[in-house]
Amino acid sequence: MTTTPPSAEWATRRTYAIISHPDAGKTTLTENLLFAAGSIRLAGQVRARGENRRTRSDWMKIEQDRGISVSASVMTYEHRGLTFNLLDTPGHEDFSEDTYRTLTAADSAIMVLDAARGVEPRTLKLVEVCRLRDIPILTFINKLDREALAPEELLDDIQDKLALDTAPMQWPAASGQRFGGVMDLKRDAFIPFRPDAGELSSGRPVPASEMAGLLSDDVHGELVEGIDMARELCPAYNQQSYEEGHMTPVYFGSALRRFGVVELLDALAEVAPGPQVEKAVVRKAEAEIAPGDKQVSGFVFKVQANMDPNHRDRVAFVRLASGRFKRGMKLKTDKGKSLTVSSPIMFFAQDREIADEAFAGDVIGIPNHGLLRVGDSLSEAGDILFAGIPNFAPEILRRARLADPLKAKHLKKALESLAEEGVTQLFRPVIGGDFIVGAVGQLQIEVMAERVAAEYGIDVTFEAAPYETARWISGSDADIEKFADRHKSAIAEDIDGDPVFLAKSAWEVSYSEEKWPDLKFLRAKERN
Ligand code: G4P
Repeated sequence: MTTTPPSAEWATRRTYAIISHPDAGKTTLTENLLFAAGSIRLAGQVRARGENRRTRSDWMKIEQDRGISVSASVMTYEHRGLTFNLLDTPGHEDFSEDTYRTLTAADSAIMVLDAARGVEPRTLKLVEVCRLRDIPILTFINKLDREALAPEELLDDIQDKLALDTAPMQWPAASGQRFGGVMDLKRDAFIPFRPDAGELSSGRPVPASEMAGLLSDDVHGELVEGIDMARELCPAYNQQSYEEGHMTPVYFGSALRRFGVVELLDALAEVAPGPQVEKAVVRKAEAEIAPGDKQVSGFVFKVQANMDPNHRDRVAFVRLASGRFKRGMKLKTDKGKSLTVSSPIMFFAQDREIADEAFAGDVIGIPNHGLLRVGDSLSEAGDILFAGIPNFAPEILRRARLADPLKAKHLKKALESLAEEGVTQLFRPVIGGDFIVGAVGQLQIEVMAERVAAEYGIDVTFEAAPYETARWISGSDADIEKFADRHKSAIAEDIDGDPVFLAKSAWEVSYSEEKWPDLKFLRAKERN
């Protein structure tokens, strides 16, 4: 393996996630981005890795011995001399909490919109999360091979609903049956749509002066008009504004027809930022951890349990924030627990490999027996605590009801363990022995119920709870105590022992906010 200075390595990382409303085409785009990256590489570049089969068989043995099966939660590929880590987010909308947490490990995002639908509710929520962290967003308007809204309408929609300035980088020539390609506004070149061209339907760009010959008169006329309008009325692309999360560059294409996918790969290589400085607390003082810092550090943004119920192993996904990580390294959590990372996993498209080294921006999977939980920070000295893997206010609360009350201890363990994995949240009301579980989506509850039964053998039902929502209470200890005293039956502790207000309605939350101006009722809790 060649040795490159760490500073050069981390600077080549581009770690990103794709956000979208279900059905906009995220899965199709993911597949085709990987396909395009792979086919470009096969077409000319030398594969820089994978020559060592030992690493693969090592991994398979671990998988067998420990009974873990890990899906690719991150897919790594190379393009234009950069290493891209595409973080996978669960497709189903009910797993949005997982998606939100994954975004904390991303340095940028691609927002996929369905060209016939524009901005949809789930997109709106995800963009809110990106905004919490100022994650820059690049927009891909998908399904141009179907009848689409007018491009200017789509841009207005983004601007109005998401409060993002839009800088169209391309302009489409019609859509659906008449779709002819896109104009690259920066290069003044036209990329024709060639649906029958085989693997990638983006044809070779031609100078703008030649596009008339490739399009019907009416499509050409519309395109010229559109381009004039875009140049006159739309703001020019500004890299700083994009990096600060105020502006989104907009691209058009069809993931399914593999049109515009290579252009998207190139765009990402051109504009997406690499690893950024992360806010943290180091020995009680606020600090910033830079990706080039010497000490290896990172944080757990996702934990995946074993698929085999006979084993209790889990894989923690760690986003590295600094340093040059080496296999076999000893790392400590912010709580002082230490572990030797002998089998870190990295993910290359369809493959997994044991990583010998990794850098800021990379994601490694660490198999462990439950030592690591979502939100944990890791570093060599154990002195770094990263700010912020959020928990989100659950929209569904359920009370766990045991068939056999003597199993309460087992249930506690099972629910705590699932909460540590981030499957659901767990709240213990200060009065009574109830276990209240919270989730952002119904499917999370179903997955949890199934796992409690299958993995822990506990007969439990989850019934409606007398609460509608939960808020973390923040304020001075004295104020919190006063509030808790007045609302004893509605106060619970979360898994970290932090106070939570279980409210009967959204109205009750607003009312409490008015009555207790010194307290904050938070919709999202950053764990640290
Ligand atoms: P998601 O992950 O965002 O939920 O979306 P996914 O990629 O699964 O795509 C949702 C549907 O949209 C799929 O069709 C997919 O084939 C289609 N689709 C994605 N990109 C394009 C595109 O560029 N053009 C057109 N015309 N369709 C596109 P489906 O019928 O639901 O599934 P399938 O049976 O085709 O797999």
